[in-house]
Amino acid sequence: MDISAAIAGRRSTREYMQQPLEEETILRLIRAATLAPSAMNRQPWTFTVVQNQDVLDRVSRDAKAHMVATMSADLAAGARAEHVRPMLSDPKFHIFYHAPALILISGNAPGPWITEDCALAAENLMLMAHALGLGTCWIGFAQNYLNTLAGKRELGLPQHWVPVAPLIVGYPKTPPPAVARNEPDIHWVN
Ligand SMILES: Cc1cc2nc3c(=O)[nH]c(=O)nc-3n(C[C@H](O)[C@H](O)[C@H](O)COP(=O)(O)O)c2cc1C
Repeated sequence: MDISAAIAGRRSTREYMQQPLEEETILRLIRAATLAPSAMNRQPWTFTVVQNQDVLDRVSRDAKAHMVATMSADLAAGARAEHVRPMLSDPKFHIFYHAPALILISGNAPGPWITEDCALAAENLMLMAHALGLGTCWIGFAQNYLNTLAGKRELGLPQHWVPVAPLIVGYPKTPPPAVARNEPDIHWVN
């Protein structure tokens, strides 16, 4: 697939077939992620692959509870997050949309740019997935919880790792519709 088509065609996918991913496909996605640039080429990332649906169900339930419990602690953030409260309180809402796999990209070494490095790896992975006919979605709802001790324990992550990009991956049930973009806000300096 041509790069322009990949960039323009990638969509966050929220409806998946139950078809599992082949191991070779997962490895291809991860190899594409590792081709991303990183500060001083330190490549400070680890890829955690979760396909066990019981684990994903548990993380979904606990991440929702964590978000609801911590929302009102910070009033400003709480006000912004208030509109998602009904969704997070709905026992039927699954933050991973029952996708067959989660690939979590975590920073595995201290450094000032691990977030940027992992986010660049994530975009590579999502573009490669699209080129292979797969759908992905970054699940920010999981992030805060996965950064807690309990969240790390749930996935067996060492305490010093920093979960950055929880990406669900799978074969899309239906192609998601395009989402509008604003015109670029450009500040030209002459
Ligand atoms: C950091 C980040 C966090 C996100 N968190 C969620 C999430 O928790 N749940 C969800 O359904 N989509 C999530 N998304 C997907 C965005 O909603 C989506 O990228 C945006 O609406 C644009 O749509 P597109 O990806 O199809 O272009 C997240 C995206 C990013 C980059």
